[in-house]
Amino acid sequence: MRIVLLGAPGSGKGTQAAVVAQRLGIDHIASGDLFREAANRGDELGQEVKAYMEKGLLVPDEVVIKMILERLSASDSARGFILDGFPRTLEQAEALDRSLEQSEGKIEKAVYIKVSTEELVKRLGGRLICRNCQTPYHEISSPPKVAGRCDLCGDELYRRPDDAPQTVRKRLEVYFAETAPLIAYYREAGKLVEINGERGIEEVGEELIAALTKEGGGDF
Ligand code: AP5
Repeated sequence: MRIVLLGAPGSGKGTQAAVVAQRLGIDHIASGDLFREAANRGDELGQEVKAYMEKGLLVPDEVVIKMILERLSASDSARGFILDGFPRTLEQAEALDRSLEQSEGKIEKAVYIKVSTEELVKRLGGRLICRNCQTPYHEISSPPKVAGRCDLCGDELYRRPDDAPQTVRKRLEVYFAETAPLIAYYREAGKLVEINGERGIEEVGEELIAALTKEGGGDF
């Protein structure tokens, strides 16, 4: 089971990928989380990617592709993976396809979570993230049980610097120019599943699981 999750910043990729990974017993690989971990470590990769993330720009393809393909080869789940935030350019999608072909594998489904721009801006404006496990919360739609603390690990919640309004505007601009064309790429390959992401978190999750599993008419 090899799944790609597509959607604009704030569409709920991280929120839903965690649910799908747990329910289907597959690996959740999030490029943004890997970059934030590197930035926190402050190593060479971290310093390089931090500058791009702070400006709302994409990290160069060669850096992302190398990191994700290495992470995929180290995946410990025999059942497969869900990719959250990768691929984000045509070059990344083609590199992923080529790499999987070498082991006679392929992406089976690309799920696109569709959300209006107005709603994306609202979600990113109220998002809180766990400093340790990176679980996302929202101050209004999904607040933590204890203010400022993660329900899962108890660590501190913070606002991502790239959720500042001017950086959100840049990220959305970059998304529509560089990443949205991947919707057509996967549609043409007959792999696209479109989900209405503008409903409650649980409702979106149920539709997503149903679209992927045999019980709901999906393949798995
Ligand atoms: P990344 O971390 O991947 O950010 P993103 O794609 O911009 O996506 P987000 O994490 O902002 O949103 P999400 O869709 O996961 O939404 P979430 O579930 O949190 O990337 C960050 C940066 O890293 C990039 O800008 C780039 O610089 C770099 N990068 C990463 N991958 C790269 C790549 N492949 N190539 C190049 N550069 C790369 O939800 C958002 C909020 O909404 C939360 O508060 C949540 O609680 C709430 N919410 C979720 N669902 C619902 C719902 N149904 N109803 C109401 N609220 C909801």
